[in-house]
Amino acid sequence: MSKEPIILGIESSCDDTSAAILNGQKILSNEIANQEIHSLYGGVVPELASRAHQQNIIPVVDTAIKKANINKEDIDAIAFTKGPGLLGSLLVGSSFSKSFALGMNIPLITVNHMQAHILSHFIDEGEPMPEFPFLCLTVSGGHTQIVRVDSPSNMEVIGNTLDDAAGEAFDKSAKILGLPYPGGPLIDKHAKNGNILAFEFGKPNIKNLDFSFSGLKTSIMYKIQNNTQKNPNFIKENLEDLCASIQHSIVTILLNKLQKAIKQTGIKEIAIAGGVSANSYLRSELQQLANEKHYKLYVPKFEYCTDNAAMIAISGYFKFLEKDFADQNETPSARLLF
Ligand code: KG4
Ligand code: ZN
Repeated sequence: MSKEPIILGIESSCDDTSAAILNGQKILSNEIANQEIHSLYGGVVPELASRAHQQNIIPVVDTAIKKANINKEDIDAIAFTKGPGLLGSLLVGSSFSKSFALGMNIPLITVNHMQAHILSHFIDEGEPMPEFPFLCLTVSGGHTQIVRVDSPSNMEVIGNTLDDAAGEAFDKSAKILGLPYPGGPLIDKHAKNGNILAFEFGKPNIKNLDFSFSGLKTSIMYKIQNNTQKNPNFIKENLEDLCASIQHSIVTILLNKLQKAIKQTGIKEIAIAGGVSANSYLRSELQQLANEKHYKLYVPKFEYCTDNAAMIAISGYFKFLEKDFADQNETPSARLLF
């Protein structure tokens, strides 16, 4: 029996420095260093992010190797995020990975961050995995997509955001409410005891499978400005209801489009991925919909929703099987498409 490859994955596209080791599809370690500094500025500051990646990358890789209980000589290939993401951040991961591949004389593999979010479903944790073809709703801080997935290397974006991403809609709404960055998880938390129908906001009217969130954001902003003029304590007194109503609006936009895509394609095998797939209301609403309509639903474990290198390593694994290797001329691409 041939031995399964050991792949080191490196993720540095935004503000998390992460390294993971996979043996075949099984995870040996998944280390993540978050960058707290950005919460002071209400968003990710690209220059600070790349500096923090530089400080974190070697210790994070070192810890990932130690926790996997392997030697660096056991690694068969290194996979890294080529894009999309912040160029300065991507450069740290790509430079490290190229040097590591060269130094260890092992293959180098490039990974698309958005495809990796989807492929995180194939990390073997003993849970059922989606069967091809399936639809994936990928919702993160930078992207909102509905993707038709025919195989690990054959995916098509059939719906995309025209302006803000769903995560941005959460984060920008949170900022309007005076909550720190990233506000998505805080809206989730405060929404738990709120009334989803307390406030109504503008709804987008886009005909195809694309999304738009900028109108919603503007409508939230005006509602809060108008009410705060009348009552300076408006946000404080209504925080739970505001969060629940905002969350309900964002999730409704996502689920309406997903249902439209399911109708159009006839595919009832459904996955979600990306940071916003950690949202508890999105998960429960989607589960209810899946039960009602008999969709098969795949929801990632929390640690694989937000950015992590395990998803980069699993994507590297599939490319390793195809011998789809990159060379030392490889450069990161901030706007990498599928
Ligand atoms: O995938 P991700 O970690 O990074 C990107 O590639 O963008 O996604 C980060 C996004 C942020 O906008 C964050 O607010 C959002 O995911 N997020 C959430 C939750 N957890 C993370 N949004 C809503 N509810 C959550 N529980
Ligand atoms: Zn991401």
